[in-house]
Amino acid sequence: QASVDVDISKILPGQAIKTSWRKQPIFVRNLQPKEIAEANAVPLSELRDPETLAQRTKPGHTNWLITLGVCTHLGCIPLGTGEGENRGEFGGYFCPCHGSQYDTAARIRKGPAPKNLVVPPYEFSSPTVVKIG
Ligand code: FES
Repeated sequence: QASVDVDISKILPGQAIKTSWRKQPIFVRNLQPKEIAEANAVPLSELRDPETLAQRTKPGHTNWLITLGVCTHLGCIPLGTGEGENRGEFGGYFCPCHGSQYDTAARIRKGPAPKNLVVPPYEFSSPTVVKIG
């Protein structure tokens, strides 16, 4: 289908879920204030694919990090959505295939992946529902 509605009401701060859109995994993560602060503290000059957290989220919803769950190296699904899963050295997502490490804005920080996890087109249709696509 062209778009999918995701209920985000049960995703607590610090939690993430995996859903799908157009047969691709999608990660929806509710960032904690500490994770937002960590992302905002990184100078853009340190980033391989320089983007701010604000550029990767919606105004007023900076805590909602919504990305494809597809590593930009060779397409594996990174870890970090499940409880207790390895989120890697930068607290975001960790790709077990060849060790790419993403930060709390899902930006590539270490390992072979060239780009940040991709942000799909989406909008908030209400405070608790996100329409992806
Ligand atoms: Fe993720 Fe290679 S596919 S590091």
